[in-house]
Amino acid sequence: MTSPFSASSIDLKRARLVPLAPDICAGLAQAIVAMPPWSVMDYPADAMARFLESSGDGASRYLVEVEGAEAGAVSIRFPWLKGPYLELLALLPQFQSLGIGASILAWFEQEGSQLGARNLFVCASAFNARALRFYERHGFRPVATLPGLVADDYQEILLRKFPL
Ligand SMILES: CC(C)(COP(=O)(O)OP(=O)(O)OC[C@H]1O[C@@H](n2cnc3c(N)ncnc32)[C@H](O)[C@@H]1OP(=O)(O)O)[C@@H](O)C(=O)NCCC(=O)NCCS
Repeated sequence: MTSPFSASSIDLKRARLVPLAPDICAGLAQAIVAMPPWSVMDYPADAMARFLESSGDGASRYLVEVEGAEAGAVSIRFPWLKGPYLELLALLPQFQSLGIGASILAWFEQEGSQLGARNLFVCASAFNARALRFYERHGFRPVATLPGLVADDYQEILLRKFPL
């Protein structure tokens, strides 16, 4: 049986999640940090590339692929706080507002539920109103404000979906 958040590819309604191959991480990182919220915080491309390339640290990282094109990245940490933590959800601009984020969240919730998780967690910058609205529309509620988590002078909002 394939375990949830495993290293296999996952077919979703509008996209495919493919385990990240090290050779595409630098280019993908460049594209991710060029867009908000990372561009706003001047998040370094090499730090994002190192994060995407990491393995064996309790996170599952995927390329989001749409009709063969690189559309973004996802990273899920499990186990985390009595449930999984979606630590990265980044869709490149041309792949936003197509319902892909919604299908990734639906899969995240379904897998969390199958794992018997009591909670789901996500995080977004306090200035990222669109992402906060997106998560709240999907049932997540703010539970903590974390100053300086990603960059000085910026706050991150931790959101939780509970009960599942
Ligand atoms: C935030 C994010 C993950 C949302 O994913 P998404 O695929 O764009 O979201 P969805 O398409 O499911 O829904 C978002 C919007 O598209 C609209 N939408 C949903 N399905 C749609 C469709 N088939 N056609 C057109 N619009 C659609 C929704 O009404 C929604 O509008 P709003 O957010 O402006 O109110 C994505 O936009 C993203 O990666 N943004 C940049 C990085 C980021 O902010 N990451 C999250 C926090 S770190």
